[in-house]
Amino acid sequence: MATLTDKKRTKSRSSGRPAAELIFGNLWQFDPAPETADPKLKARYDLFIGGKFVAPASGKYFVSINPANESKLAEIAHAGVADVDAAYAAAQKAFDTVWGKMPGKERAKYIYRIARLLQDRAREFAVAETMDGGKPIKESRDFDVPMAAAHFFYHAGWADKLDYVAPGRKVVPHGVVGQVIPWNFPLLMLAWKIAPALAMGNCVVVKPAETTSITALKLGEILQDAGLPDGVVNIVTGFGDTGAAVMTHPTAAKVAFTGSTEVGKIIMRSLAGTEKKMTMELGGKAANIIFDDAPIDQAVEGIVNGIFFNQGHVCCAGSRLLVQESIADEVLAKLKTRIKVLRVGDPMDKNTDLGAINSKEQLATIGRLVASGVKEGATMFQPECKLPAKGWYFRPTVFSGVSMSHRIAREEIFGPVLSVLTFRTLDEAVEKANNTAYGLSAGVWTDKGSRILKMSTLLKAGVVWANTYNKFDPTSPFGGYKESGFGREGGRQGLLDYCKLV
Ligand code: NAI
Ligand code: MG
Repeated sequence: MATLTDKKRTKSRSSGRPAAELIFGNLWQFDPAPETADPKLKARYDLFIGGKFVAPASGKYFVSINPANESKLAEIAHAGVADVDAAYAAAQKAFDTVWGKMPGKERAKYIYRIARLLQDRAREFAVAETMDGGKPIKESRDFDVPMAAAHFFYHAGWADKLDYVAPGRKVVPHGVVGQVIPWNFPLLMLAWKIAPALAMGNCVVVKPAETTSITALKLGEILQDAGLPDGVVNIVTGFGDTGAAVMTHPTAAKVAFTGSTEVGKIIMRSLAGTEKKMTMELGGKAANIIFDDAPIDQAVEGIVNGIFFNQGHVCCAGSRLLVQESIADEVLAKLKTRIKVLRVGDPMDKNTDLGAINSKEQLATIGRLVASGVKEGATMFQPECKLPAKGWYFRPTVFSGVSMSHRIAREEIFGPVLSVLTFRTLDEAVEKANNTAYGLSAGVWTDKGSRILKMSTLLKAGVVWANTYNKFDPTSPFGGYKESGFGREGGRQGLLDYCKLV
């Protein structure tokens, strides 16, 4: 049974009549629809060095936890300096003897094989990704895993066409590259990092994030099955100490990092004065801008997707909503109605919209920033959804009455928390959108093509989406300005960051 909301009927702009909303909320119960594929987890994962799984020199392991229920999933090796040395030695040897000499059209065959093997095992990988990281199964199934395969396919296609990456110039690989990736898109970020590096002829030492190592190590199995020569890709797991060893290793000709701006700065400081090339993909505080001529219902979907996709653990999340004052009440009312029907809970359920927060630490960070929003005087809205008793969860949260000086308008929260601000003119929207230390992404919702073009020129952001949000494609370069970092991933531009022009 559905009911009409009477209390807060908002006037629809076009007709002036009250806009009736269908509320299903808790009136209809969904049966559980758990994904059942076997993730084929091992009890213990070793390091992947020189084409083999090897125990860490120290013999130390740490536990990877399922954030949805706090259960232990597997033990993961903690790589120390000696293991990172071994990984770089294997990578350098592979570069000197095999990979660096192999024609691009031969390298392509391996990369295609990786893509196909990943497609073959897509369901298994999706389940493992959701169990280890907490994201809804519909996202890992329909986004993370297919996009990871797409990145390998796309870059395989480039491997024999590198003469066209920089027409008129010759491109050569850097040699061995070191890479550190975050926990929000574990497999996809691995693909973003490995695929262009391999296509260009580099060998790799990569470190996954400590809470989400499993799919990277499962990819190690695929690399073996693909017959990738030993040492071309080496996967070392561990914490920040392992990451620092990977980034500062003398063998690394280039390093690429995705993660917090804070750690990005530490890495840049430690590499200042060295010859190493760097790519930094850091934090964001994107403005999602809604003009009064926007298609409101689509915009509301875009706002929801922009901030609640992957629980808001997204560097390009549309975490600041800038809405034109004349439609602010209508947009906010529709947004609240929409949020009330979001399903928060078991990530393994195919109906779940918001899964688990990745770690206890991240949950605490979100809680702290939300508390600051309340304390600084913004108005908080959360739906009354029931959260699972065990595991780490956070309700979708919308703050209205936010001003530019509030912490929730300035700091990256990396959780399902939206700050709503208003503007009157285009200039004010641009001024507010650009008034941030970050510059990774932005969204513009308007009916006017000319305004889209004007805004995309004026916004200081690496990606500007128009009448959509969080759209990705391997052909499209992604990266930031200002404290969001530098370098690009994806497309021809991404390949340029993995080669030297001679
Ligand atoms: P983090 O930046 O510490 O972690 C990202 C990766 O860097 C992990 O693999 C970690 O082990 C590694 N790492 C940590 N310290 C390092 C060091 N000194 N040298 C080299 N590698 C190092 O991020 P964390 O602590 O997990 O999250 C904190 C905040 O960072 C989040 O609340 C979020 O705001 C932001 N973040 C942003 C991401 C993005 O894609 N923009 C991704 C992850 C976190
Ligand atoms: Mg985990």
